Amino acid sequence: MTESKEGGDAERGFSTRIGFIFAAVGSAVGFGSIARFPFMTAENGGAVFVLFYAVIMILVGIPMMVAEFSLGRRSGADAVGTFKVLTGDPRTKWRYSGFFYIAAAGFFLSWYAVATGWVLRYLWASFTGAYFDDPAAFNVGLFEGPDALFWTFLVMASSTAVVMGRVSQGIEKVNLVMIPTLFVMLVGLVVYAATLSDTGPGYRFYLAPDFSEFGLPTVAAATAQAFFSLSLGQGAMLTYASYMQKKQSLAANATLISVSTVSVAILAGLMVFPMLAAFGLLGGGEQGLALIFGPLPRAFADLGGMLGRLVGAVFFTVTFFAAFTSAISLMEPAVAYFHDQWKLPRWKSGLLVGEIIYGGAVLAAFSTPYLAVSSGAITNACVLLGGFMISLFIARRFREEARKEMDYGDRLRTSRFIHPWVTYVMPFVLLVLLLTSLFGAPGFLGGGEGAVQEILAFLD
Ligand code: PHE
Repeated sequence: MTESKEGGDAERGFSTRIGFIFAAVGSAVGFGSIARFPFMTAENGGAVFVLFYAVIMILVGIPMMVAEFSLGRRSGADAVGTFKVLTGDPRTKWRYSGFFYIAAAGFFLSWYAVATGWVLRYLWASFTGAYFDDPAAFNVGLFEGPDALFWTFLVMASSTAVVMGRVSQGIEKVNLVMIPTLFVMLVGLVVYAATLSDTGPGYRFYLAPDFSEFGLPTVAAATAQAFFSLSLGQGAMLTYASYMQKKQSLAANATLISVSTVSVAILAGLMVFPMLAAFGLLGGGEQGLALIFGPLPRAFADLGGMLGRLVGAVFFTVTFFAAFTSAISLMEPAVAYFHDQWKLPRWKSGLLVGEIIYGGAVLAAFSTPYLAVSSGAITNACVLLGGFMISLFIARRFREEARKEMDYGDRLRTSRFIHPWVTYVMPFVLLVLLLTSLFGAPGFLGGGEGAVQEILAFLD
C-alpha cells in the first residue's frame, strides 16, 4: 500500500482532498444543474424556489450526503461490499440495496449517456457551424437512431477509458482539469450574456418571485431534484467516499460540494434565460433537457458568425464537461463492484460495465419516449428510494458507527445535529416523498401524477 500525502491509501483512492472534492462536484454538476434546475426555478416561483431549494439543501441535501459518505468511507468498499462489511454478515439482506445502487446508476447512465452524446454532437456542430443555417432542421430526427448511437458510443468509450485506470490517475485527473475549466467558462458566459441588450425579461422570467403555494408534489419534485443534482442515493457518492481519507471532515466536504453545485446551477440559469430573452426566444415551452437543444442553439445561430460559433462551442463544452464527469461517476459503482467483489482488474471491470451499459443505451438511443420516462419519473423515484434506504440502514443497523464516522476529522462535531436528523426524521420524510413520487399526491395536497401513472401511460 502506498501512503498518499494525506495519509490515505493512494493505491485505491484519491490522492488529494481537492481531487476528491472536484470529483464529487463533477459527479454532482450535470444536466441536473445545467438544464433541470434553471427550468424548475423558472416554472416554480423563481427566486422563491431558489430560497426554498436552499432550505432543502440544508435540511436534506447536506445531511444525506454526510450520511452516504459515512457508509462508504467507513467500509472502504464498493456499494455491495459496504453493506457486507458494515453488518459484518456477507449474506446480509442489506446487500440487495447495494445491488440496487449499482443497477440504478447503470440504468441512469443508459439514458444519461445518450443525452451526453447529443451534447457532443452539438459541440462538434458548433465548430463546423452545421446548425447555424437552420437550427430547427438540424434538431429534427437527431435524437434517436444510428446517429444518436454513434455519439453515445463515443461517450461510453471515453468514459470507459477513464474508469479503466486507477482512480487517482483516471477519475481524479479528468475532474481536476474539467471542473475548474467548466466553472471559468460558465462565469464567462454569464458575464457575456449580461452585456447583451434586452435581457431584462430573461432575468425576470428566471427569478421574479412568485409566492403561489407549494404543494406536496413541488416538495417531492424539489427534493428529488436535490438528490439527483447532488448524485445522492445512487451509490456514486458512496463509492467515491470509499476513496476518501479519514482526516477530512465529511460535513465540511458535503457543504463545499453542495454550495459549489448550487452555485453552478444558479449561474447556468443566469446565462440561459438572458441569452434567450436577448433573441426573443423566451417561453418557447421547452422543458428540462429540451431547453439546451431547442432554443439555445437558435440563439447561438442568431448571434451568428464567429461569435455565435464561439459562444456555442463554449456553452456545449461546459455542458459536456458537466455531463461527462457525471457519467464516469455513474459507471464507478459497478466498476468498483466487479473490482472489489469479483476481483477483476479495473480495466476488465471497466470494459465489462461499459459494454453492459452501452447495451442499455441502445434502447434509449432508439426510443425518445423511453428516454423521457426513464429520465423523468423513474429517476425521481429511484433517487428517493436510494436515499430512503440509506437513512433506514443508518437508523436500523449502523447507528452508533455512523456517528463515529461522522465525527472523524470534524472538529465542529456537526454529528450532534446531523445524526439524529438522519436517524429519526429522514426515514419518515423520505418515505412520504417516495410514495408521492410513485403514486402522485392526494388531491388536497395538490394533484400531480406519480411514476406509476407515467409508466402505465407509457406502456399503453
Ligand atoms: N448529479 C448528476 C446531474 O445532476 C446526475 C447523477 C445522479 C450523477 C446520480 C451520479 C449519480 O446531472
